[in-house]
Amino acid sequence: MAILIKGGRVIDPARNLDEQLDVLIEGEKIAALEADIEAPADAQVIPAGGRIVAPGLIDMHVHLREPGYEQKETIATGTRAAAAGGFTAVACMANTNPVADSASVIAFIKEKARQEGVVRVYPIGALSKGLEGKEIAEIGDLAAAGVVALSDDGHPVMNALVMRHALEYAKMFNLPVISHCEDADLANDGLMHEGLMATILGLRGIPAAAEEVMVARDLLLAAMTGGRLHLAHVSTAGSVRLLKEARARKVQVTAEATPHHLCLTDELVQSYDTSTKVNPPLRPAADVASVAAALAAGDIDTIASDHAPHADEDKDVEYDYAPFGMVGLETAVPLVVTELILPGKLTWQQAIKAWTANPAQILNVAGGTLAPGGVADVTIIDPELEKEVNVNDFYSLGHNSPLHGRKLKGWPVATIVGGRLVMADGKVIE
Ligand code: DOR
Repeated sequence: MAILIKGGRVIDPARNLDEQLDVLIEGEKIAALEADIEAPADAQVIPAGGRIVAPGLIDMHVHLREPGYEQKETIATGTRAAAAGGFTAVACMANTNPVADSASVIAFIKEKARQEGVVRVYPIGALSKGLEGKEIAEIGDLAAAGVVALSDDGHPVMNALVMRHALEYAKMFNLPVISHCEDADLANDGLMHEGLMATILGLRGIPAAAEEVMVARDLLLAAMTGGRLHLAHVSTAGSVRLLKEARARKVQVTAEATPHHLCLTDELVQSYDTSTKVNPPLRPAADVASVAAALAAGDIDTIASDHAPHADEDKDVEYDYAPFGMVGLETAVPLVVTELILPGKLTWQQAIKAWTANPAQILNVAGGTLAPGGVADVTIIDPELEKEVNVNDFYSLGHNSPLHGRKLKGWPVATIVGGRLVMADGKVIE
C-alpha cells in the first residue's frame, strides 16, 4: 500500500530541506520527495496543504512503566499516547519493576512493544544493578540485548566511581550514558525549586546547585573517560553555562530539555496542583529563558518529554506525598509550538531538528530524516489547529498534566510509522 502526502511544507533538517513537496511512501520506505507526484492507483492520499510534514518525531526520554507499574502506564497505552502526540519512536527508561538491568527484561519490553505497541520502542538499560548506584549493570549483556543507551534516570548516581566505570564500559559499546543530574543530599527531600516561590508557598526547596554540581561532575568524568555523556532534563541557567563551557572544550556531551522546563515556570506550583511536582523541578523564568535559548543555539540537542505518568490515586494526595513526574507525550508538540515557535523564540527547523535528526543520531536509530530509501516515519503538524488540552481525552493512563484546560496551537494531525498510518486527526488507528 502506498501513501501520498500532498502539498505540505516539508521540513527535513538532516538535509537542509524546507519547501513545498509531495512525499510518496511505498511499503515501509520513503519512495520519493518531489514537487508534484501523481498518485499511484492504490495510494491513500493525505492532503497536507498548510501543514508541516516532518520526519517522524523521536522522544528519547519516556517512562512506559511496564513491567511492574501497569496501573500508571503500559507499553500499549504509552505508545498510543506517543502516536497521538505525533511521535513515531520513543526510548523508554529503565525504572520499571523489575528494573531493566538485564537482557531478559529488555527482551520482554521489545516483545511487548512488538505485540502491543503502535510506535517504535527503544529500551534504555539501567546503568547500575537495581538502579542502586552501587555496581554497574551487565552493560555488555544489555548492549547485546539491544539497548540504545544506559541510564538510572529517576535516581542520581551518587558514586562518582560508578559513573566513571559506566562511561568507560558504555564507550566500548558506543552507547550514551544518560545522566539524571541530581545531588540527592543537596536536594534534601525538597519539593520544588528553592527560591522566591518556595518561600512564599512554604514548600521545601531544591536548589539549582543540586543539579549543577552533578552536571559539573559528569562533564569532568566525560572529559576524563572520553565516554558519551547525555544530560537528561537540563533545567537551570547554571547547567547551561557548564554545558557550553564543556562543549567549547570539545567534551563529548549531548543534552536534552523537556517541554515543561522550556515553557513553564515554578509560578505554576501556586496551584498546589501535584502535577506540577516534577524532578528536576519547574524553575523561575530566567532559567526557562536560558534553557530555551540554549536549545535555539544548538547547545541543547533534543527536546525530550520525560513523560512520567502516575495513577490518579498516586497524585491525588498532599504535595509532600505526591511522586515526581508529569505526562508530556500528548502535549509536547503544541506546547513547544505555542510557547516557543509562534512567539519567535525557536524556528520550525530548529524544533524539528531537535525532535528528529539529533535524537536519531544520539541513539543511533533509524529515521530522523525523510531521505528516499529510509524508513517511512512521518509526522504531520497543523500549525493553525487550536485545541484545549483535556487530560480525560489522553491515551496515556496518566492524567498528571498541569496543562489541563489550556488552549494550545499547533497539534500533530497524522503519525506514520514504517509506512503505516497510526494516527489521524488526533485519533489512534487500531
Ligand atoms: O519527574 C520525574 N519523574 N523525574 C524523574 O526523573 C523520574 C520520573 C518518574 O519516573 O516518575
